[in-house]
Amino acid sequence: MDVDAQQQQEIVALVEERVAAEVEARLAPLVAEAVQHALWSPRVYGDERKLHLHPTAVVNDALFNLSSGEITVEEYAFFGHGVSILTGTHDITLFDRERQVGVPKSGRDVVIGRGAWVSTNALVLGPCRIGEHAVVAAGSLVRADVPPYAVVGGVPARVLSTITQRPS
Ligand SMILES: CC(C)(COP(=O)(O)OP(=O)(O)OC[C@H]1O[C@@H](n2cnc3c(N)ncnc32)[C@H](O)[C@@H]1OP(=O)(O)O)[C@@H](O)C(=O)NCCC(=O)NCCS
Repeated sequence: MDVDAQQQQEIVALVEERVAAEVEARLAPLVAEAVQHALWSPRVYGDERKLHLHPTAVVNDALFNLSSGEITVEEYAFFGHGVSILTGTHDITLFDRERQVGVPKSGRDVVIGRGAWVSTNALVLGPCRIGEHAVVAAGSLVRADVPPYAVVGGVPARVLSTITQRPS
């Protein structure tokens, strides 16, 4: 059977359409899995040995910058998504290449205390300690110590309230 040019084009178009549909069907679950994985996987910048996560802590996709200090997340502390914990900084009195590389190696540690909730898109700059069972509201900028049981929020974060402790 002879196939003319138009029929050839139609066959090619049909094959391309089916291949595209098949590729999409096979890729969709892989993409969904990759997205889920990304939401559960912390991103670590710097020496991983300076990051101390308690096995019961949940940090989701947090960004940990370890350039200028250690980061400790204590037991049962947990994060929303998109939290950034930064120890790194640059010397603003320097310029050009010197500012780029003018990063202290230590001195800006961050500790997230037991049971603290650091909620979605919070940004925490070291050095600071977030006290046990404190809450950091969504989108806040923390650049100083947070007392235990405090609820803090805003840019920069301020104490909004204090949680009443249950009698033990
Ligand atoms: C911190 C939080 C838990 C407080 O909830 P709440 O106790 O119900 O607080 P309220 O809504 O009564 O607000 C109390 C005060 O805090 C302020 N506030 C609440 N959230 C704030 C935020 N993200 N930033 C700044 N201020 C905030 C309110 O404006 C209010 O101030 P006012 O008394 O001057 O009006 C909540 O606001 C929050 O940020 N939740 C995070 C949600 C999230 O990230 N979920 C994902 C799952 S991890």
